Amino acid sequence: MSASLIGKRIVLGVTGSIAAYKAVALLRLLVQAGAEVQVVLTESASRFIAPLTFEVLSGHPVVQDLFAGHQDMKHLSVTEQADLLLVTPCTANTLAKLALGLADNLLGTVALTIQCPLIICPAMDGEMWEHPTVQGHVTGLRGRGVMILEPETGALASGQWGKGRLPDEAVIFEEVCNVLVKGRDLQHERLLISAGPTQEPLDPIRFLSNGSTGKMGYALAEAAIARGAEVVLVSGPTQLKVPRGVSLFPVQTAEDMLRALTAHFHWATTLIMTAAVGDFRPKQALSQKLKKEQWDGAALQLERTPDILLALSAQRTHQRMIGFAAETDHLLEHGQAKLAQKHLDMLVVNQIGGNQSAFGNNTNEVHVLTPHNPPRFMPRQTKRQLAGKILDCMLDLPPVHLAQPTVLHKSHTG
Ligand SMILES: Cc1cc2nc3c(=O)[nH]c(=O)nc-3n(C[C@H](O)[C@H](O)[C@H](O)COP(=O)(O)O)c2cc1C
Repeated sequence: MSASLIGKRIVLGVTGSIAAYKAVALLRLLVQAGAEVQVVLTESASRFIAPLTFEVLSGHPVVQDLFAGHQDMKHLSVTEQADLLLVTPCTANTLAKLALGLADNLLGTVALTIQCPLIICPAMDGEMWEHPTVQGHVTGLRGRGVMILEPETGALASGQWGKGRLPDEAVIFEEVCNVLVKGRDLQHERLLISAGPTQEPLDPIRFLSNGSTGKMGYALAEAAIARGAEVVLVSGPTQLKVPRGVSLFPVQTAEDMLRALTAHFHWATTLIMTAAVGDFRPKQALSQKLKKEQWDGAALQLERTPDILLALSAQRTHQRMIGFAAETDHLLEHGQAKLAQKHLDMLVVNQIGGNQSAFGNNTNEVHVLTPHNPPRFMPRQTKRQLAGKILDCMLDLPPVHLAQPTVLHKSHTG
């Protein structure tokens, strides 16, 4: 958390959500990083947290009432030279106001006068978040270039489990830094990202697959888009929402994935292979469903799926190639071997198995390996945070200039 926000002016809008207390910790991070923060509270927000807390921590009086400061046109002066308007937590009510351009309080009015980027971090009950009206507002705002940080799934204040939780302050802080510091540093990058599991059919209804959920690849795609990259995402079956601006190519088998990646490989500046590609497939997929009793004692004949990295390496001209390895043990040893074997520029190694398995979790810890530097350990954090740091490492890689495409020896691909 070392980014400097010195010289940055942020308007922090806080609304009447149970998560309003989290805005206090975020304010501390912003101020510690050197930002000048002006807090705007809605009437409801001040019923959750007293303005005094924000005043002490920001060093500025909180502004709240549209009519109280009419002499100095507070709704206009607050936003003067602001670099960012950050609304967190944002209630369903304020989200609707921002989407519709309602200006019946100071925050709504301020939002209509700003010229700077707007980040909204919604927080609400899961059913409210999923409501078509709320989703319609989210779509409308995104369509106008507003950044919406998706709420997280977890235990909600209502006692229910669902999507609607405000992300931790560190995640929001990271997003702010992405916008204010990193800006659009990936605007010349074209990222080809693979994600999710592959499925290899046994018969029309059964398949061989694995427990990958695709969260890491989707987080990378979202982080890259936020920093100005063009992104093509080749994804196996997942339940995830495709980040706005990403071109999605859905696939099922390893063969399909190879085909889709090959089609975009020459376009890409970087390939990031997060997909958990199945190593084996049934030698023959049955065209009809086999009855239960027919499986008794049946032996499954398997064959290797195509080695995607090997195939793409053979066509490589200028692309950076970044791999992911999922290991249960000897992480660094196995990782170093794969990095060398596949001639990768970078390999991100994560652990699978156990409670903290990389598969399915929203958080992860990884080792980043590159050919000429010592391994870099990234401690447990959200996949979205890791994505930002992995993209930073990608930018540090030396440029690739190959006289000839690399030809690799066939070996096991993860
Ligand atoms: C205890 C409590 C917690 C609430 N939490 C939320 C919330 O997390 N998200 C939300 O959209 N509304 C929440 N509300 C409802 C809002 O406070 C209400 O819609 C209010 O009008 C929002 O006003 P504002 O958007 O101007 O701040 C909560 C209300 C109460 C009483």
